[in-house]
Amino acid sequence: MVSTADKIVSSALHYLPNAAPNRSPNQFLLPLTATANPDDRLEIGGCDVVQLVQQYGSPLYVLDETTLRTACQQYRQALQQYYPGNSLVLYASKAWNCLAVCAIVAAEGLGIDVVSGGELYTALQAGVPAERLYLHGNNKSVQELQLAIDAGCTIVVDNWLELQTLATLHPADSTAQPIRMMVRLTPGIECHTHDYIRTGHLDSKFGFDPDQLDAVFQFISQQSTLHCVGLHAHIGSQIFELQAHHDLTDVMVQWMKKAEQYGLPVQELDLGGGLGIRYTESDDPPSIEEWVKTVAAGVAAACRSHGLPLPTLLIEPGRSLIGSACVTAYTAGSQKTVPTVRTYISVDGGMSDNPRPITYQSSYRALVADRLSAAFTDPVTIAGKHCESGDILLKQAQLPPIQPGDTIVVMGTGAYNYSMASNYNRLPRPAAVLVTSGEATLILRRETYDDLIKQDCLPERLRPIDRTE
Ligand code: LLP
Repeated sequence: MVSTADKIVSSALHYLPNAAPNRSPNQFLLPLTATANPDDRLEIGGCDVVQLVQQYGSPLYVLDETTLRTACQQYRQALQQYYPGNSLVLYASKAWNCLAVCAIVAAEGLGIDVVSGGELYTALQAGVPAERLYLHGNNKSVQELQLAIDAGCTIVVDNWLELQTLATLHPADSTAQPIRMMVRLTPGIECHTHDYIRTGHLDSKFGFDPDQLDAVFQFISQQSTLHCVGLHAHIGSQIFELQAHHDLTDVMVQWMKKAEQYGLPVQELDLGGGLGIRYTESDDPPSIEEWVKTVAAGVAAACRSHGLPLPTLLIEPGRSLIGSACVTAYTAGSQKTVPTVRTYISVDGGMSDNPRPITYQSSYRALVADRLSAAFTDPVTIAGKHCESGDILLKQAQLPPIQPGDTIVVMGTGAYNYSMASNYNRLPRPAAVLVTSGEATLILRRETYDDLIKQDCLPERLRPIDRTE
């Protein structure tokens, strides 16, 4: 609970970003272009968010192009500054994969990490060059592998079955080069984050364990159709401590040394993603620059001490590229006060457009876009509209008094919201607009009821009998 004194001074104006130098988008609750306009409303990318909802409906994902591009540029510039070798930033598109987002990050010179045939297909349709696409996944189908091979992407091999399958596959074009692949390792690095989003510790479904490596390298060295370009690891997500990634660099460079002993010189070292973002005031993630500096210095130092040439350094940020670039705008509806317990304010979306609170107990912050300077009153609970008691977006939201029809904005929803969205209770998925310089462009059309039944099949014998005939 906030004190009375806090309540008088506290308003959503405190959430607006202050343009301090050396800070990166992942350190702010709102996109970089967020301001209060003369009507005291939230403006993002020069667009009034209340008006956007009037035009496009709600729930609405509002994605700020400047913030996304700035994060891409900060990653690339930091690598150029701190890493003496070649480098490539791959956007982990599982955070938000759609045509427009793939096109923006590719235009910023990034490659893309995809984890399924669907993500790969989307990136290819967006025009991302295949040589900048990397296919991950712990259970890729033969069809997914073949799609990647024929397109000419790099395949990050996760396990024995995949490795053995890959050795039997060939590009459709018989004159093509050997299949470009990497090996994913489980480095055994512990980090503090939610259990479901840790991937680098030994009890993980992803990657080869260290004791399998000799056999793996031996096998690959005997396959003329496979070109092993490097090694990959990813230790987890929403990580604030730099130490875990620093430790990872040394472990990976030791494995580079081992690969070399099998005649597999590592040209590319991919250290995954994981940098966290600020979801609430108590989150204090390092900047993009600090994270890149740690990783780059770690790899350079480890290569020096092991006498290895510098590999091309790849990193795969997802959340820290796009998480803070987007907000979700909802319309407030019914309210219910349970005396002495809490007040529920229901919005027109919920766990179907943001499954993170119910899945990971993730915390968010919200504001009322119509009255940014209005003082907060007692905390309220923002509930979704799904038939599920746990469908709560925010438990203790600091907001001014809410009227039905107000625009409630939840911040930091760019990563793993749209990409994990569902049609639970047959809610159509929201629209998304890209905002920049006062212009909003639709990048995801709102689903319609017809979209919801598009894949349904009603067998002839179940069709209602037309009694009018
Ligand atoms: N590379 C690999 C191989 C990954 O598995 C991931 C995330 C990333 C890169 C990007 O990590 P990031 O920079 O976004 O932390 N749905 C969860 C997050 C799952 C992350 C899965 N892997 C959530 O909503 O928190």
